Amino acid sequence: MNISIIVYSQSGHTLSVAAQLQETLSADGHAVTLTQLETVAPLQMGDTTAELNTIPEVGAYDALVFACPVRGGTPAPPMRVFLEQVASLEGKKVALLVTGFFQAKWGREQTLAQMRALCDAKGASVCGVGSVGWSSLRRKQQIARAMADLRQVF
Ligand SMILES: Cc1cc2nc3c(=O)[nH]c(=O)nc-3n(C[C@H](O)[C@H](O)[C@H](O)COP(=O)(O)O)c2cc1C
Repeated sequence: MNISIIVYSQSGHTLSVAAQLQETLSADGHAVTLTQLETVAPLQMGDTTAELNTIPEVGAYDALVFACPVRGGTPAPPMRVFLEQVASLEGKKVALLVTGFFQAKWGREQTLAQMRALCDAKGASVCGVGSVGWSSLRRKQQIARAMADLRQVF
């Protein structure tokens, strides 16, 4: 499959997991590109929205993975803005990946639900999710689990 991983990452956690996913899916024989969402200005602490340099094209891909950190129980603003502005996702296989610092119920679950709704609104149904708690003692296992769950989707 031709897969695009589109990631926003502020301090590098989500990017590192997304890069592992790129390696994993490539090893499975997929063609995988990784694109970072870039903001016009650095995201500040209280920002609830963001202007993106570009909205990456998704038309050429069979499948997409959207990856971002949690911010206050919501997707990081650059990812939310991207999902609001991206062209139709009709017919695409979509998976989600989030990282947060705390337990899943303190933001990651809510963030995944909001990303799912944004994808639904663009005509895609989400086929799989990965979720990693950065402060967890089981972080490595959570990353391995996310890889295993997401590679099954494609
Ligand atoms: C402003 C702000 C709000 C955050 N809110 C949450 C939150 O609600 N829940 C959570 O688990 N982590 C929260 N975090 C932690 C980040 O989601 C976490 O460190 C994430 O792994 C960072 O990913 P990144 O390095 O890809 O930017 C917050 C971080 C920041 C800076």
